[in-house]
Amino acid sequence: MTRIIYMEEQATTLDKDNKIYEEKILQEAAAVIQSGGTVVFPTETVYGLGANGLDPVAVKKIYQAKGRPGDNPMILHISSMDMLERVTNVIPEVARKLMDTFWPGPLTLVLKKGPQVPLEATGGLETVAVRMPSHAMAKKLIQLANTPIAAPSANLSGKPSPTTAAHVVEDLDGRVDVILAADQAAIGLESTVVDTTGPIPVLLRPGSITLTQLKNVVGQVLVDKGVTQRLAEGETARSPGMKYRHYAPDGDMILVKGTIPGVIYTMMDWMEKRKEDHPVALVPTEYLSEFAGWDVLDMGPIAKPEVIMNRLYQHLRTCNQKKATFIVAPLFAEEDDFLAVNNRLSKAAGYHIVPAMTPGNENREE
Ligand code: TXA
Ligand code: MG
Repeated sequence: MTRIIYMEEQATTLDKDNKIYEEKILQEAAAVIQSGGTVVFPTETVYGLGANGLDPVAVKKIYQAKGRPGDNPMILHISSMDMLERVTNVIPEVARKLMDTFWPGPLTLVLKKGPQVPLEATGGLETVAVRMPSHAMAKKLIQLANTPIAAPSANLSGKPSPTTAAHVVEDLDGRVDVILAADQAAIGLESTVVDTTGPIPVLLRPGSITLTQLKNVVGQVLVDKGVTQRLAEGETARSPGMKYRHYAPDGDMILVKGTIPGVIYTMMDWMEKRKEDHPVALVPTEYLSEFAGWDVLDMGPIAKPEVIMNRLYQHLRTCNQKKATFIVAPLFAEEDDFLAVNNRLSKAAGYHIVPAMTPGNENREE
């Protein structure tokens, strides 16, 4: 049985002082973590499915709840720099700079694993991924549990990461001990992951903290091949989570790459071509009117990448609810701000990317 606690509702109806009430609820949730149970909690990126990161038996429950392969390493979430000492003994200079700049916040650093961290939490690796979230409820929960909390995104394996409590309940009701149902995720995409164990930091997973922001702090940053390309069979992913087909909607999905207006023109052409299916287009706000009469989802304005980021996972879930059998979306041309969105779109589409046609040159690559 899962205990679902609607934080907002509880705080206003049962106690006028949100803080005191939430603290009591969070103490109960922290006790569940301490006794080896599972608690879903909100963070600023996506909801996390948490358990005591230093307890191998508790960590295994996360894999079971998600239906996730057991070799996929997890992020350990900490609430203070003191707690960092329990997960690693080695903090390279670049890692220190990145922590100083971006923690607490949506940045995960891969570091050398400390002896207390069980291999169950790292998927057998000698390195460990660590993040200090900024969400007040997440921070408080970790602090009260007084242990690093291992937490992957709180979705069933293969589903988009959950950005609302409703997504979590849909996926995990009956599979975890507690769900702290709170606000919609402010960022809506998983954290930026950077490996700082080598001589030059490597971006393993793009997120809302951009490559430019990272470079501004540490100078050179390499980009793992898995960020922009599908890895070939047998090729090893530096970020093991990257090797699984993530976020795939039920319908066929294709992405159109190029510049506007060719992209819009080509998306329309595909909608027309697949009209016997149930086609759905993910369209930037600026171009919605061109798709009048079609089933579309408003991605948000191109001028606001953070809005497009924030809506993406909801849209992918909506495509399934609509039983869309064909989905078309743009791949964004602007590289830095859209690196994370393009990365998640590419995975969702299984890297099925077609070039935009330009009117008069209607050669289509399929
Ligand atoms: O925003 C987030 O990061 C969310 C919230 C809950 O904090 N969590 C999250 O966790 O997205 P998860 O498990 O879905 O993704 C963890 C990513 C995976 O891509 C995994 O391969 C990578 O981090 N990772 C974890 N440990 C690693 C390690 N030791 N070396 C390389 N990559 C690692
Ligand atoms: Mg995930």
